[in-house]
Amino acid sequence: MLLITGGAGYIGSHTVHYLINLGYNPNDIIVFDNLQYGHPENVPATVTLIRGDLTNRAEIEEVFSANAIDEVIHFAAYAYVGESMTNPYKYFSSNITGGLNLLEAMKDYGCKRIVFSSSCSVYGIPKKLPITEDEEINPINPYGETKAILEKILRWYDNIFGIKYVSLRYFNASGAGFDIGESHDPETHLIPLAMRTLFDSRYKLQVFGGDYHTRDGFCIRDYVHVLDLADAHFRALNYLRTGDQSIALNLGSEQGISVREIIGIIEQVSGKPVRFEVTERRMGDPQELVASSILAADCLGWKPQRDIYEIIKSAYQWHKSTYRG
Ligand SMILES: NC(=O)c1ccc[n+]([C@@H]2O[C@H](COP(=O)([O-])OP(=O)(O)OC[C@H]3O[C@@H](n4cnc5c(N)ncnc54)[C@H](O)[C@@H]3O)[C@@H](O)[C@H]2O)c1
Repeated sequence: MLLITGGAGYIGSHTVHYLINLGYNPNDIIVFDNLQYGHPENVPATVTLIRGDLTNRAEIEEVFSANAIDEVIHFAAYAYVGESMTNPYKYFSSNITGGLNLLEAMKDYGCKRIVFSSSCSVYGIPKKLPITEDEEINPINPYGETKAILEKILRWYDNIFGIKYVSLRYFNASGAGFDIGESHDPETHLIPLAMRTLFDSRYKLQVFGGDYHTRDGFCIRDYVHVLDLADAHFRALNYLRTGDQSIALNLGSEQGISVREIIGIIEQVSGKPVRFEVTERRMGDPQELVASSILAADCLGWKPQRDIYEIIKSAYQWHKSTYRG
């Protein structure tokens, strides 16, 4: 049985659909989510959805006591970088305690395999590009720190209890599939916010800083399609079933694209102008983040199949189909 925490969220729900599409039996998947940010309607009706909070140890222990869970994908976390700078308590208490409660339940019930949603934010401001996994771990916000701490905790649960993990350090998850799409509330991600300007004439996108030392002055990021991320989880589960080496892997496209270039591609794909204004730089935004994903290719045979145009096209189709003007 596969337990997916946070499986009603953006990346989690795409992954649930992706696994079922590959032949996973929906009866062998349990989604555990507090639904604070998740969308229950995005979890297939054939999958058991348990509403619960990882910070409540009894609730997660109950799931393990009632079901024979042999593997876990752990998406559930609070994931707003900006909010973590104003309310670090929420992040340290929930993301760390939640992860620990999950690992304790795994330990208590003999579950030995976990795929963990980590993030490129563990690197902070990288010293060299593209970023390889041996880059110094040096987060610059509490959100990234929670990911770095949980990676460390995973190492100890492996050393002491033999729980094997794959930590997947995602770069910018984006795009849409299975009629789900990216919808966080509040939304802070560039692509959905830029899309909003196409459908809401009152909304203007704020771009933080146009004076970076990059080719066009705008920040550069690495975007990876959510279905390519889902595919990496499938491969990571197989990797853990067949091997016994825990590992941390970057998941990015290895292509750096500037904020201005994203806006240009959205305009090209939609045929409409994106309204935006350039404001002050935002504290803590690294100038450029681009992944090396060589290790993920070596260990998982993973390579993203969808480029930035497919990301933007799928996102545009989804936003167009869901917009209620
Ligand atoms: N979106 C990205 O670009 C990105 C990049 C790097 C890492 N990540 C990580 O990937 C994971 C999924 O991200 P997402 O964009 O799908 O976010 P999301 O907010 O859409 O999904 C997270 C889900 O976890 C649930 N959740 C949060 N705390 C919980 C708790 N204590 N108990 C039970 N459920 C809880 C939420 O209700 C939500 O459904 C997160 O761990 C995030 O930190 C995301």
